[in-house]
Amino acid sequence: VDSSQWKKLLGNTWFYDPAYTQTAATSSAITEIDGENGILRYRGYPIEELAEKSSYLEVAYLLIFGELPTEDQFAEWVHDITYHTFIHENVRKRFLEGFHHDAHPMGMLVSAIAALSTFYPNAKEIDDEDNRYRQTVRLIAKMPTLAAACHRFSVGQPFVYPDNSLGFTANFLSMMWKIAEPRYDANYALAHALDTLFILHADHELNCGTATMRMIASSNSDPYSSAAGAAAALYGPRHGGANEAVIRMLNRIGSIDNVNSFVEGVKNGDEKLMGFGHRVYKNYDPRARIIKQTADEVFAVTGKNPLLDIALKLEEVALEDDYFKSRKLYPNVDFYSGLIYQAMGFPTEMFTVLFAIPRMSGWLAHWKELMEQDQKIARPRQLYVGAGERSFVELGDR
Ligand code: ACO
Repeated sequence: VDSSQWKKLLGNTWFYDPAYTQTAATSSAITEIDGENGILRYRGYPIEELAEKSSYLEVAYLLIFGELPTEDQFAEWVHDITYHTFIHENVRKRFLEGFHHDAHPMGMLVSAIAALSTFYPNAKEIDDEDNRYRQTVRLIAKMPTLAAACHRFSVGQPFVYPDNSLGFTANFLSMMWKIAEPRYDANYALAHALDTLFILHADHELNCGTATMRMIASSNSDPYSSAAGAAAALYGPRHGGANEAVIRMLNRIGSIDNVNSFVEGVKNGDEKLMGFGHRVYKNYDPRARIIKQTADEVFAVTGKNPLLDIALKLEEVALEDDYFKSRKLYPNVDFYSGLIYQAMGFPTEMFTVLFAIPRMSGWLAHWKELMEQDQKIARPRQLYVGAGERSFVELGDR
């Protein structure tokens, strides 16, 4: 049913649904979630199979183009992305280095994505399919470079240029951690684990960030400006900022002896159990299940994160508790991802940035789909609840 048919069916009926809890704002063929049964599929492929057998760049291709690539298509895709990993020197030297020394890397990233639109002004030509492809490749390719640049600046270390002899994830780790020539050799297990996390985070249908991407893009804004808005939405602690909040919460709990009293506080409404609950999943988040396995692989290399025992105890207590059971609150993707990032050496401020890198492919898949749907500008209505008509009172008479 398209919008004109809805109009015929419903006339001028409006629905009041401020947080869109019951509103489908689009049709989409990208990602399917069955929240009751804990199922997540990208273009029909179960997330478990993709996490086991695929790679992030292959999944990015699948999300954007709808099918898994052939060998030739994949080689061209990887080549194109690798070719675009560098960022303009002014983005780094003048723009990023102009931030205050303690700027949050996610705030820097949001601004840098927006700034890229001024470096590629032809990105506005959104009707040209070749041009859309070029901007898509650029955005996916430049995310790790921007992310690492934000980190290096925030810790006062010199910028590391991309090493295009490395794969996507290893290249990112090199830009993050390299301290000496000739090259940084990432641990294979860690690079692979990060790649798996990138697959799990690549898309999740119409979450707050992706809905923002589609909302902004519906005004025919360029993809950089739209993606900057999506990244800004992701920055919030109720969304992509939750994994950072999980680590802060686990640190505050401090010991497994304090878990029960902390959970009582949550039940009394003192605070939320971060990393638990989801708007769509009313069952175990399938990504959280895969992440638990990935955590084992990472901890085998890095040693166990001391906060893991507290997290496991929290999960055990919460899953047995009627408060959480009756509300169908289960661990979500963010509950364990922060523990892995921390064990790999990433500072907590980088966690949401690590989420944004792969989510870019999901945002762009939705952007492409939106452009092809030729949808009208998104424009919700409101219920006006303010004052009725009244006459202006002069300043001196108020
Ligand atoms: N801890 C304790 N209670 C919770 C939690 C939680 N984490 N989440 C929901 N609840 C309670 C609510 O207080 C509410 O209780 P009530 O019925 O007694 O009022 C009930 O469960 C329903 O919760 P809602 O707020 O209606 O759920 P909503 O769908 O609006 O919120 C959200 C989903 C934002 C994810 C929420 O569960 C939350 O804040 N979780 C913690 C933050 C978090 O982990 N976010 C990451 C989400 S995943 C992602 O963005 C990648």
